[in-house]
Amino acid sequence: MIKERVIANFPHPKGVYGRIAGRIMSSRDSNVARNHWVAEILEPSPDASICEIGHGPGLAIEHLWPRLTTGHIVGVEVSELMSRTAARRNRAGVRAGRVDFRVADSASLPADLDDFDLIFGVNASMFWPDPEAAVNELAKRLAPDGELVLVFMPPPTSDQSAASVAAGYAEQFAAAGLVDVQHDQMDYEPPAVATRGRRR
Ligand SMILES: C[S@@+](CC[C@H](N)C(=O)[O-])C[C@H]1O[C@@H](n2cnc3c(N)ncnc32)[C@H](O)[C@@H]1O
Repeated sequence: MIKERVIANFPHPKGVYGRIAGRIMSSRDSNVARNHWVAEILEPSPDASICEIGHGPGLAIEHLWPRLTTGHIVGVEVSELMSRTAARRNRAGVRAGRVDFRVADSASLPADLDDFDLIFGVNASMFWPDPEAAVNELAKRLAPDGELVLVFMPPPTSDQSAASVAAGYAEQFAAAGLVDVQHDQMDYEPPAVATRGRRR
């Protein structure tokens, strides 16, 4: 019963069970390794304008913000609890003016979240009610030459492979007008795949 309630909180953590879900995201080896890998492959320039959608406890942002000099990262979350948790984890980045957090839905981003060099999401899009519409919307929020990166590693409850989800992303990226669509694979069991596409 507790396990089911915790699992049910991963799409939008809140309350006691959401806190437990957040702790699992912060500490599970696969989550920690995946977010570290994502931060490694993204290689943003120090002045990049970046948005992470569905950052959960903020592990990837923790790796990324110290590499920025004049750049900035906005974390977007539907969950107020995760937004607060990630802000706590990244308080030095917030204080340094390199990071801020917004509670919003990927399907209806605030108008001022625009013109990003990089938008990425890690195991987040599986909870979007209309992923195709969301990819379209995110593609429009990129600056020219900006990159959209969606990463998927099958969670223990999933029967989808990373490769099949990545193939679906590639179709959505192409339909949204993104070019140079390619995949990076993390050497892990189960593997994670990052699908990347660029706005013309
Ligand atoms: C499985 S967690 C992954 C968290 C983090 N990216 C990681 O890898 O540790 C998915 C996160 O996406 C958030 N989320 C789900 N749907 C969302 C949406 N439509 N817009 C923004 N965030 C969303 C959830 O609140 C949750 O924190």
